[in-house]
Amino acid sequence: MVASASLYEKIGGGPAVREVVDAFYTDVLGDTDLKPYFDGIDMARLKRHMVVLLCSVLGGPEGYRGRELGEAHKNLGISDEHYAKVGDKLVTALRDHNAGEDVVQHVTTVLNQVRPSIVEKTG
Ligand code: HEM
Repeated sequence: MVASASLYEKIGGGPAVREVVDAFYTDVLGDTDLKPYFDGIDMARLKRHMVVLLCSVLGGPEGYRGRELGEAHKNLGISDEHYAKVGDKLVTALRDHNAGEDVVQHVTTVLNQVRPSIVEKTG
């Protein structure tokens, strides 16, 4: 029996993930609640790290080399509300790029798993 394609292959591999991440950060930076977090941040580097992270979450060959997520978001004071907004934007970007529901489901599960490492403020 042939092994089923990974979610990474189903979405279209690295190039598709890059398009999703580009659209995602355009949306995030266009949100006045979220934009201030990214003032002075090297967005090219952040995008690179996010692309690799998302690729590996989907089963791609890339290995994440950025900081551990808790460390990267430490002292940013991210609230539950802002986390939810960012998560929704990622899911929207995936859907806009015709990611299947299996990809969306998996990413949503991972977003719930990493939430405690990133959120520092409730409410
Ligand atoms: C939703 C899940 C999230 C994931 C998977 C994620 C992923 C990442 C990754 C991979 C990095 C790069 C780490 C590095 O360069 O070593 C990063 C950095 C960053 N993230 Fe997130 N992030 C998430 C949510 C958020 C939210 C909700 C905010 C703000 C509202 C945010 C703001 C930032 C900022 C400002 C940085 C740069 C920090 C720095 O370089 O000092 N992230 N994130």
